[in-house]
Amino acid sequence: MKQQPSASVAGQAAIAEAAAILEQGGLVAFPTETVYGLGADAENPAAVARIYEAKGRPHDHPVIVHVAPGADLDYWVTEVPEQARQLVQAFWPGPLTLILKRHPQIPDAVSAGQDSVGIRCPSHPVAIALLQAFKGGKGGVAAPSANKFGNVSPTTARHVRDEFGMDQHDDGDLGGGIACSAAELSVVLEGGSSQVGIESTIVDMSRLATHGPVLLRPGHISAQQIADVIGMLPAAPDQAAPRASGTLESHYAPRTPVTMLAAESLAETLSRLRARGVKVAVIRHAATVEADAQRVLPADPAGYAYGLYAALRDMDQTGSGLILVETPPQDAAWLGVNDRLRRSVFGSAGVIESLLQK
Ligand code: TXA
Ligand code: MG
Repeated sequence: MKQQPSASVAGQAAIAEAAAILEQGGLVAFPTETVYGLGADAENPAAVARIYEAKGRPHDHPVIVHVAPGADLDYWVTEVPEQARQLVQAFWPGPLTLILKRHPQIPDAVSAGQDSVGIRCPSHPVAIALLQAFKGGKGGVAAPSANKFGNVSPTTARHVRDEFGMDQHDDGDLGGGIACSAAELSVVLEGGSSQVGIESTIVDMSRLATHGPVLLRPGHISAQQIADVIGMLPAAPDQAAPRASGTLESHYAPRTPVTMLAAESLAETLSRLRARGVKVAVIRHAATVEADAQRVLPADPAGYAYGLYAALRDMDQTGSGLILVETPPQDAAWLGVNDRLRRSVFGSAGVIESLLQK
């Protein structure tokens, strides 16, 4: 897998400044191993409200609270089932979010009024340093992905700045990667390309006694890996499962329509579209085709996930009429990738037909 050129990573001074901004109720974007987050003090409802405002996110979508390694879970939730402790032990710091019963002292602003709260301890060193600096490691940083609502999640600081229309400014002293804008978000901590590339796996452990563990969002940590630790395979969400915005039908969508096609039909569809004068961008992993613009992703699920969002963003910038994605394999290892792609293409149903009819 080809790594993107990695920018300098935020140093201690930049991290300390970011922690101070969070403590004052401001917003800070920061890298995690999954995607970049848009953070605010989880215990400051006015600060959390700023996240919703900056993202243009509906108020009934809860946000994940990020905590430092070794954080006291009992401060955040009323009950930590043994199986949840096992998952923490096995996967934290890392790309796993647990939904548990929210402690009454935690403002319901973070969970949009639901009685649960999503908690995760990220493994990115900059995220860990930020969480350790913020409130002496005892705070929680509420952070959704640092993109406008419905858009593709950012996996680099540059993506965040693009998303919020920020100009980078040079600040050698602060150890890299602080960007300023007059708007709500003033700081983006630099941390290179997010290693995992898609959002954390979310498991609802808040209704264990009645529903068992429920997989609200697939990700890098698979249902099977979870089962291997707790001896129970997380079920698919039921009607009563807590809401998750990443589970909306349409999400992670670039501006250009996106559609998926099996390798066999790629070349033919491409030539029909091009014959109509449609510029097409392709994201592929196994097929070989000629296209106006294209990105080849690794044919393994982890490598593919790492490159997916950057590929969608880059292909979105090519002025194409359509982004055509070669359908990835459908087995369990690809669940996280296929989940994101399915939501990216959702709003573009019928686009090939209508482009061919023009
Ligand atoms: O990898 C990630 O999880 C990234 C990084 C920044 O940590 N964050 C992320 O946040 O993806 P966001 O807000 O874009 O997606 C979080 C998902 C949403 O779908 C939200 O609805 C769900 O988590 N969620 C948060 N708290 C919840 C709760 N109490 N009950 C059910 N779902 C919850
Ligand atoms: Mg998101």
